[in-house]
Amino acid sequence: MANLLITGGAGFIGSHTCLVFLEAGHELIVIDNFINSSPEAIKRVVQLADAHHRLTLVEGDICVEADVEKAFTSFRRKNFLFHSSIDAVIHFAGLKAVGESRTNPLDYWGVNVNGSYTLLKVMAAHGCRTIVFSSSATLYGYPQRVPIPEDAPIAPINPYGQSKAAVEQLLADLAASETGWRIARLRYFNPVGAHPSGMIGEDPCGIPNNLFPFISQVAAGRRINLKVFGNDWPTFDGTAIRDYIHVLDLAAGHLITLETLLSEKPQMLTLNLGSGVGLSVLEVVAEFEAVCGQPIPYEIVTRRFGDAAKTVADSSLAETRIGWRTTRNLTEMCRDGWAWQSANPYGYAN
Ligand code: NAD
Ligand code: UD1
Repeated sequence: MANLLITGGAGFIGSHTCLVFLEAGHELIVIDNFINSSPEAIKRVVQLADAHHRLTLVEGDICVEADVEKAFTSFRRKNFLFHSSIDAVIHFAGLKAVGESRTNPLDYWGVNVNGSYTLLKVMAAHGCRTIVFSSSATLYGYPQRVPIPEDAPIAPINPYGQSKAAVEQLLADLAASETGWRIARLRYFNPVGAHPSGMIGEDPCGIPNNLFPFISQVAAGRRINLKVFGNDWPTFDGTAIRDYIHVLDLAAGHLITLETLLSEKPQMLTLNLGSGVGLSVLEVVAEFEAVCGQPIPYEIVTRRFGDAAKTVADSSLAETRIGWRTTRNLTEMCRDGWAWQSANPYGYAN
């Protein structure tokens, strides 16, 4: 059992990972400022895990040193043990909308880079040197070859991707300092789906940017139709191909990564977390229709700026290095995503 600080634990990936970590017996402090989430997610996580006494919520901002400090010290108070402290941090908190990062780069550098810097500074002050960082396949920009291995060129094409690359570099510098850091940089491909209970899931603020939440909201009657961004891509059906990964497979990847970091010598792991399976937009639409039993109306529009034709992970390193691979297929991603959206058409605001 480890004592873990989860930043951004109320968000989409964070909430599912909190659940998996609670089920594995760990004790959690979550820090979140709810800029893109709701405290209701945390309520439901502890309910699902039946673990009210093993999760403490601190409402705070990772950019504010005093807030991060509060998260570290509230853990100590809670356990009445002055020597007890946080063993590792799982760092999800950040901003993730690519389009918004272009119009507001200051926020993206501020939260993603400065927030990570502040967190790392407080960790170092407390002697906590183990961190799992949410990186992204967005680092690879327009990939030169697919499937994409971890040693592919880092060539982000937007401020969001630049901010992730900057934090990856900071973490590499810490690892190279040989001061005992244990670091994982996990490059997620396209996380989708939800917990099969339908109690937690993805609840984006405003109009969704990403395919899965958009399709789900069309199916739930919140949006009229899906705009498919281009059917003139060099793919088998003309629509772009992505590597979708069930959020619970991703959460399991964090658990195995953490166990590896804590049981081995200080090091830095850099891993792609994807399924290795490429699916087109129209394949996803067809499967979602089959699962929800209704048509998903769509229209073809022009390509979205910054999209690539095909991004698929080479995740063989994660399999050989930490023994992780995905276990859930597209049907399960659609089924679980629909269980969440149909039970909560307006997300946590229901
Ligand atoms: P999310 O927006 O659902 O979760 C992020 C959480 O961080 C939210 O709860 C938000 O309120 C919180 N947060 C944001 N700024 C904060 C701050 N300054 N202080 C404290 N809390 C703050 O996003 P997600 O999809 O769960 O993504 C989690 C992480 O994974 C992010 O770092 C994201 O960049 C990365 N990632 C996501 C995807 C994806 O497709 N969802 C893909 C690759 C990488
Ligand atoms: C996008 C971001 C990526 C980020 C990821 C997670 C861009 C260019 N890429 O990835 O940097 O890491 O989200 O936040 O923004 N699609 C439609 N209609 C829609 C939405 C999407 O056709 O309404 C298509 C897209 O063109 C793409 C596929 O569906 O081919 C998946 O899109 P999306 O879910 O946004 O993920 P990515 O573009 O892979």
